[in-house]
Amino acid sequence: PLFVVEGKNQNLPIKSMPGYSRFSIDNLVTEAKELYSLGIKSVALFPAINDSFKTPDAREAYNPEGLNARAIRAVKDAVPEMMIMGDIALDPYSSDGHDGLVDPKTGEILNDATLEILAKQAVCEARAGVDIVGPSDMMDGRVAYIRAALDQEGFHNTMIMSYTAKYASGYYGPFRDALDSAPKKGDKKTYQMDPANGEEALREAALDEAEGADILMVKPGLPYLDIIYRLKQNFSLPIAAYNVSGEYAMVKAAAQNGWIDHDKVMMENLMCFRRAGADVILTYHAKEAAKLLNN
Ligand code: PBG
Repeated sequence: PLFVVEGKNQNLPIKSMPGYSRFSIDNLVTEAKELYSLGIKSVALFPAINDSFKTPDAREAYNPEGLNARAIRAVKDAVPEMMIMGDIALDPYSSDGHDGLVDPKTGEILNDATLEILAKQAVCEARAGVDIVGPSDMMDGRVAYIRAALDQEGFHNTMIMSYTAKYASGYYGPFRDALDSAPKKGDKKTYQMDPANGEEALREAALDEAEGADILMVKPGLPYLDIIYRLKQNFSLPIAAYNVSGEYAMVKAAAQNGWIDHDKVMMENLMCFRRAGADVILTYHAKEAAKLLNN
C-alpha cells in the first residue's frame, strides 16, 4: 500500500506509522521503481485528498484529472509491469468520512445509491490504468455492480480483489491518520463486519464469488488468521490478507522501545499469513521484508 499527496518532492511522514510516508506523484514514481527492482510486483494506491475536494456526494472519486487518476497514470507509465490496485470506496473523498453516501436526515448509509458512484470510480481507475480494483467500501452487491460496469466499458481483464471479510476494527487508526479520513459522525459498524462473527465471512465470501470476485481478502490480518484459514479451506479463489496499519504500528512501537526484535517479529507475522493460507499479503512491511529476503 502506498499513500499519495499533491505537490512536488513531498515525503510526508505519518506519525502513527513510523518509517512510512505519503509521497507526491514524482516521489511515488521513484518509490514504485525501487519497489519493482526489489521484487515487489504490485502496489495499492491510496490518495490523501485535500479537504477542499471533499463533498457529500464524493464526486472527486471519479475525476479523471484528480490525484488518484494522475497517480495511477504516472506509475503505469513509469513501471508498466507493476500491477496497480486502485481503491474503491468514498471515504477519502467524502466530507462525511464514510465509505458510502450518508442520508443527511437520518445519518444512514445509502447502500444502493453508493453503488453507482463506486462503479464510476472503478471505470475511472481502469481508464487510468489499474490492473485490479479493490472495493474496500463494504456496500452489499458492489462486486457484481462494478463487474458489470467494467465489462460494459470493455475492461474485461480488470480484476476485482474484494475486501470480502472486512471487520469494523480498531486497527485502522493510523491509516485514517494518513488520509485524514476518519468518519465525522458515527462509526462503520452498519457496513463493516462484527469482529465477533466468523460465520458471516463465509456468507460474504459466497456472495463475492457468485458476483465475480477474482480474489477474496480478509482484513485486518493477524487477529483474523482463523478467517483466512476458513476461507482458504472453503473457496478455490486466491485469498489475500491485509496486514493493516495498526498491526504495523504495534510492531514498530514495540521495536522502537526495544521490547521485541523487529525483523524477527515482522517475518514471523508474514510467514504466519502464509501458514494460515494467504496467497497474497498486503503489508506496509513489504519493502523492508523484500530487502531482508533479497539479502
Ligand atoms: C477505507 C479503508 C480503510 C483501510 C483501507 N481502506 C479504513 C477504514 O475502513 O476506515 C484501512 C487500511 C489499514 O488500516 O491499513 N475504505
